[in-house]
Amino acid sequence: MESATSWIHSLLFFSFIIASLHLLDRLIISSKLTTDQNIQLIKKQPQLPLHFNSDGTFKILQVADMHYGNGMVTRCRDVLESEFNYCSDLNTTQFLRKMIEIENPDLIVFTGDNIFGASATDAAESLFEVFAPAIESEIPWAAVLGNHDQESTMNREELMYLISLMDYSVSQTFPSTKVTSDPVKQQPITNIDGFGNYNLEVWGAPGSYFSNSSILNLYFLDSGDRAVVNGVRTYNWIRESQLSWLHDISKRYQVNTITGTALAFHVHDLGQWKNADQSVESSLPMMHPALAFFHIPIPEIRQGPIKDIVGTDREYVACSSVNSGVLKTFVSMGDVKAVFIGHDHTNDFCGNLEGIWFCYGGCFGYHGYGVAGWPRRARVIQAELGKGKELWMGVEKIRTWKRLDDGVLTKFDEQVLWDRQSLAWKYQD
Ligand SMILES: *[C@@H]1O[C@H](CO)[C@@H](O)[C@H](O)[C@H]1NC(C)=O
Ligand SMILES: *[C@@H]1O[C@H](CO)[C@@H](O)[C@H](O)[C@H]1NC(C)=O
Repeated sequence: MESATSWIHSLLFFSFIIASLHLLDRLIISSKLTTDQNIQLIKKQPQLPLHFNSDGTFKILQVADMHYGNGMVTRCRDVLESEFNYCSDLNTTQFLRKMIEIENPDLIVFTGDNIFGASATDAAESLFEVFAPAIESEIPWAAVLGNHDQESTMNREELMYLISLMDYSVSQTFPSTKVTSDPVKQQPITNIDGFGNYNLEVWGAPGSYFSNSSILNLYFLDSGDRAVVNGVRTYNWIRESQLSWLHDISKRYQVNTITGTALAFHVHDLGQWKNADQSVESSLPMMHPALAFFHIPIPEIRQGPIKDIVGTDREYVACSSVNSGVLKTFVSMGDVKAVFIGHDHTNDFCGNLEGIWFCYGGCFGYHGYGVAGWPRRARVIQAELGKGKELWMGVEKIRTWKRLDDGVLTKFDEQVLWDRQSLAWKYQD
């Protein structure tokens, strides 16, 4: 009798254990596994190609140097003593959410040192956390790497690959052979230095003459991390292979532009667009503008002289000792009007070199070095279309401003970087 009771007890006990395990599996383990599978299999695709809005604008939020570590447990650097105890990576996340909310950009560009490898225990986890506000916003976002991203558990190729697979990311590890935005027909170009060299097209406003072609080109470059030159440690630099790829891409757009121009003259609704450029021969002013994004400044900025500075210039330019001719390449391409960089956290200025603007993002992240009492900041870039008699035409103006994480997101240092109407005389001798 007694043994029968204990046998029943044992049976009940086992049933209980098995039921519990089953429940645990259903509720926790398998739901986790399913989520993981979803992440691998179904990337939430952003709408491509990117497009100007029907109000004739396209806005980019530049986020430089977030320096994210492990989240809540990673302390802030260079904040006031009174702020220190209540400050972590989560303040960086909060600032990003607020910037997205107030500006509602069409694209978010992260210009490197997104994570601070030395403080990140698990690179993948830090990446998912740091880009979470962008992913949640469902706004397309693009990233390049800085010199610190790879100092954790993933190398540069792995980081870029993961970034390219994340929801709403338009980042690519390698550029593609085709300029067209049909992803099916694209082949990656892998014989190029670095990871995260790619270009994005921004097509004209819906219903306008340029609604099916790129009128603003965005170039992303990997400026690398560190290097040793003749036994001396320095930063890496943008290589010949990257510049020649860029030169090719830009040339192809110019060919398209000239064809587009010839066509445009048979179109009724031209207005200002035609006034800006009377003859088909003078194709240069008709060239569609481009913007470039990378992390480490180029030595030409240090050499200067850099003109028309707007913003703060409080830090020596930390760049490579090797000048690989980036500025010369940009000047010869003719389409790059402005370049957006990071790396030197306490510089946030725009300055002009040979007709091309170089703009720092200023430090965004709380775990990156900065100046206590000098609020973290972000840059916004807005391209604006010119109007024909009725319809939107090509890009007419490129504007930029910054905002502070000072509680009210103060907007400051607004300036026009490029204006099609005035470019003809401003920087030509
Ligand atoms: C960081 O965030 C906390 C919580 O929202 C806030 O109380 C604190 O003031 C923030 N610190 C800084 C330096 O912005
Ligand atoms: C753009 O493409 C769409 C769809 O193919 C077409 O209906 C439209 O006419 C095109 N617009 C222009 C301006 O070429």
